[in-house]
Amino acid sequence: MTDDIKPIPLFNLKEQYEHLKPQIHEAALEALDSMHWLLGPQTQQFEEEFARLIGVKHCISCSSGASAIQIALKAAGISEGDEVITTPFTFIATTSSISLTGAKFVFADIDPRTYNIDVQDVERKITKRTKAILPVHLYGYPANMDAIMHLANEHGLKVIEDCAQAHLSMADGVMVGGIGDAGCFSFYPSKNLGACGDAGCITTNDDELADACRSLRHSGRAKDKAYEYDLEGSTLRMDEVQAAILRVKLPHLADWTEQRRKAAAWYAEGLSGVPVVLPPTPPAGYEQSFYVYTIRAEKRDELQAYLKERGIGSAVYYPVPLYKQPAYKHLNLNPEDFPEAEKAAKEVLSIPMFPEITEEQVARVCETIRAFYEQDATV
Ligand SMILES: Cc1ncc(COP(=O)(O)O)c(C=O)c1O
Repeated sequence: MTDDIKPIPLFNLKEQYEHLKPQIHEAALEALDSMHWLLGPQTQQFEEEFARLIGVKHCISCSSGASAIQIALKAAGISEGDEVITTPFTFIATTSSISLTGAKFVFADIDPRTYNIDVQDVERKITKRTKAILPVHLYGYPANMDAIMHLANEHGLKVIEDCAQAHLSMADGVMVGGIGDAGCFSFYPSKNLGACGDAGCITTNDDELADACRSLRHSGRAKDKAYEYDLEGSTLRMDEVQAAILRVKLPHLADWTEQRRKAAAWYAEGLSGVPVVLPPTPPAGYEQSFYVYTIRAEKRDELQAYLKERGIGSAVYYPVPLYKQPAYKHLNLNPEDFPEAEKAAKEVLSIPMFPEITEEQVARVCETIRAFYEQDATV
């Protein structure tokens, strides 16, 4: 890479932080000085504001996206001996959170077009022990919620949505996180709404489930009782400083999402005619949040190296599907049962995407990808 070319990162957290720094500092200091460090006014107000934005009755803040999934499953009654069907093409928190409830996760393959769980394969995996389906809205593209809810209703299953990558995505005109029994969001710093540390939340319209979530994140405490426990919970609360910081960022989330969608349109135009597969176009009523912009590319690893040499960041989400992870070796799962996840893991590549990305930067990424394939065609 020559010195005069500015790198284009995959994410750009610094620009957003610099822009909001005075407000973030003020909010964090105010939260500290208030000495309400846990479950105070910032948390309460954040929960109200986020619930309003998603269009649900309840938001229960917690310590991370992983803890949100664990709490929501437990609150929905999932425990030892139960099976939860999910995708193997996701971050490990999806499955480790299932295991932490004592339940067993069961994988269904993915739809090769959307990278989300294949509902027909979910149906094949249902047994007497199945208690829930856990779809992940991967890359911010909503899972096929219409078909998932239909199947769940038919079989009396709970649906817990993993919305960690899908703030403000919509399926059938409804915001994700408000479709299943509960939605689980991550506010990990790189997420579309990111804290300055770990944080997450659960969204739901179910009053009873919301009460159980509030208790489970707070050691299992009975409502309004200091040392009586209705449930066995843990210490999984969001702290006031993170809630205060998230409240500074929340009013910008809709604009940031629009910027991501605009950048995605620039990519679609700039990559037209290039032999890569673009993210799917959602049907009417569906909206994606573009947590990342993921293409499917032949010679993916060579392309990634070519981009890196030219200062362009990229990443593979995910190079090793969960059934192949050393952590799950003891399960003896067969990769041949998941042919679409196998293929996707070899071909997907996420390229720079962040709200502040400029049209010129996107054009440079597109030209570089085009040049990679043209150079290939002339050899
Ligand atoms: C799909 C998915 N699920 C769950 C999580 C867990 O979120 P957290 O890192 O906040 O625990 C993440 C975050 O990386 C994720 O991408």
